[in-house]
Amino acid sequence: MTIKPLIILPDPVLRQVSKPIERVDADLQRVVDDMLDTMYDAPGIGLAAIQVGVARRMLVIDLSKEGEEKQPLVFINPEIVSSSDERSVYEEGCLSIPDYYAEVERPAKVTAKYLDREGKEQSVEADGLLATCLQHEIDHLNGVLFIDHISRLKREMVIKKFTKSAKSKAL
Ligand code: NI
Repeated sequence: MTIKPLIILPDPVLRQVSKPIERVDADLQRVVDDMLDTMYDAPGIGLAAIQVGVARRMLVIDLSKEGEEKQPLVFINPEIVSSSDERSVYEEGCLSIPDYYAEVERPAKVTAKYLDREGKEQSVEADGLLATCLQHEIDHLNGVLFIDHISRLKREMVIKKFTKSAKSKAL
């Protein structure tokens, strides 16, 4: 069990496009388990590999509530195959943009295919929070952040704030 340091805005690593995973083996499963430990420690409900500096197409999600049994979901090479015209709005946050939240509108339902932790092909029809969370995390694999879905003015303000605080930490 290893908790990995999180990559924080404005680190350019977050803008990298992650590469597909060719083989699901024990080494990869160790990275997945580290990602889960890191997400639970934060705590957060979703984490993409790039947020711990691994530019590979995988992500973890757990939407269980505090005190409930954990329900870790592992998505390897996830791909959205269809999205609803219906949209929904959620207030989103991101472990790479700590303490910042904003409302984002996205398709309310998505169907995604992916490989699970064992490398087995799966598909999921997601709605509600899972649909939003999946889209947010898959965005990460393409170097896209949730602040790219808000107004330019708000986005520039957040980036400026995080750039300043990164500089003051570097001193
Ligand atoms: Ni995020």
